[in-house]
Amino acid sequence: MKKFLSVLFVCSFFILTGLYAQEIDVRHLSDSHTMIRVSADKKFILLPIQESAPEARIKVLIDTRLEHTIQARLAVEKVDYFVPFNLSPYKGKQVLFDLTQHAGRESKRTIADNVCWKELKYSDSFDTTNREKFRPDYHFTPAYGWMNDPNGMVYKDGEYHLFYQYNPYGSMWGNMTWGHAVTTDLTHWTHLEPAIFANELGAVFSGSAIVDKNNIAGFGKDAIIAMYTSAGTNQTQSLAYSNDNGRTFKIYEKNPVITSDIPDFRDPKLFFDEQTNEWKVIIASGQEVRFFTSKNLKDWTYESSFGLGYGNHDGVWECPDLVKVKVQGSNETKDVLLLNINPGFPFGGSATQYFVGRFDGHRFICDSKPEITKWMDYGKDHYATVTWSNAPDNRVIALAWMSNWQYANNVPTQQFRSANSVPRDLSLFKYEGEHYLCSSPSPELLSLREKSWLNKRVTIAKREYAYTFKKDIPTYEIVLSADAPISTTQVCLSNDLGEKVLMTYDASKKTFSMNRDKSGDVSFSKDFPIVTTAPAYIDNGFELRILVDRCSIEAFLNNGRTAMTNLVFPTKPYNRLSVTSERANKVNIQVYPLNNK
Ligand code: FRU
Repeated sequence: MKKFLSVLFVCSFFILTGLYAQEIDVRHLSDSHTMIRVSADKKFILLPIQESAPEARIKVLIDTRLEHTIQARLAVEKVDYFVPFNLSPYKGKQVLFDLTQHAGRESKRTIADNVCWKELKYSDSFDTTNREKFRPDYHFTPAYGWMNDPNGMVYKDGEYHLFYQYNPYGSMWGNMTWGHAVTTDLTHWTHLEPAIFANELGAVFSGSAIVDKNNIAGFGKDAIIAMYTSAGTNQTQSLAYSNDNGRTFKIYEKNPVITSDIPDFRDPKLFFDEQTNEWKVIIASGQEVRFFTSKNLKDWTYESSFGLGYGNHDGVWECPDLVKVKVQGSNETKDVLLLNINPGFPFGGSATQYFVGRFDGHRFICDSKPEITKWMDYGKDHYATVTWSNAPDNRVIALAWMSNWQYANNVPTQQFRSANSVPRDLSLFKYEGEHYLCSSPSPELLSLREKSWLNKRVTIAKREYAYTFKKDIPTYEIVLSADAPISTTQVCLSNDLGEKVLMTYDASKKTFSMNRDKSGDVSFSKDFPIVTTAPAYIDNGFELRILVDRCSIEAFLNNGRTAMTNLVFPTKPYNRLSVTSERANKVNIQVYPLNNK
């Protein structure tokens, strides 16, 4: 009898839970284990997410075979937002989610108490309309979900492809997948379906892509070939290829193509070496980078290493790139090794360092002394920088992830998390015997300018020169320029709530700094409020260009000789510009509203 009653209880529980869950068959099998039988009649099942909830591990079984495993922070107490799980590939099949989610050790809750079961729902559509006041207009952001590093950037047939580290199942890091978007003008982006998904070898970490114009790999003429890190038990390098301009990818069946016993062995960047007529790949390997060489893009031989003792080593070396960059005012080019490091940045967290030198077809020889560290951007939000392969007109165009690992998961957005920097064209300049990278906003960005609101030659002195914008707009550009060197000058952007960002060019120290201590919401991380300071490589005139896009400020001194990228989260847009100078300076000030429609 007792047994009968308990069976009855369990059955009625399933039925009731089933009703609650809008006919989604939910069965709780223990305190932390639930099975959900999902109908694949609709396009999506929408998963309710709570960012502070522990991650649930969801094994997706199709006709009882494991298709993939995903992690999602299924809502325990409240729903922050929904993410779609695409059911359309499984029409007519049995879909089972076999799910474990452990409550904290202190918690008395069991999995059955979670609010997510009542909220799970089927849908034929998923609304990606923007709901975020901090979503940038002309910087790339994912339609929803989390993004970190730009990946596989390659130009082909008029399209700049951007793949990126993507979590489709939440706006925090996880489920690494290659998201995909394209642009023809570096300012307007089209979102495409995610391109490469985790498989048995591991999650899909960062990597690069090239166009195989001569079909040396045998995947097809003009195939886009991607090499990425499979992050499984170890980090190994895998290939995937596309014969339809990146719309779909096939995974190479003999992956992995490069292995190592180093735990941090990742982020392969492919490049063609004209000296040896061979493909090379540069891979971050512990505290150095390693070069490998190949004749067919499939079989790789170790060639050399660079980095031990050079530059900054206060963190993990990640996302390397090697590019040929033109020296301004000459016909000379030099090889620049971009190298991202986390942590290690003097202002905390992650940043991009670089080395200027020569790659002789086999090894990289650095021009500078080992103890010299050069930073590409002195703001806190410029990481994982890499360049487009096969870019037109020999341009070297770089893109960075505009965040910092110290707080990237906590910035005050939810529908999406993280944007990229604006694309920047790279060149080199010489200053006091050293070559430095100049990162100028790509010229395409000029097309965003609307008619200037302010275009004046003024004398800036101790008394502030102030300008209040005609309208409160969150996207604009300010240019301050002078034909001769100027004295110490402060530029302040503020709103009527007293939130402000203060930028200072210090003429005696030759530095440029940005203070975001009072920029708006700085509460989400103790590492966010900060003053970042950069060397200012000024000789003749002076130009400060400031790009503002809702939650970011990118400052470029003298056309990118100094670059500084910092996030800001003002309650209202900064609508007031004020400028003061130590001594009287004649400067031109321009303010342009920017429009990316
Ligand atoms: C850099 C990085 C890469 C890695 C990826 C994982 O931000 O840590 O080294 O491939 O992110 O998402």
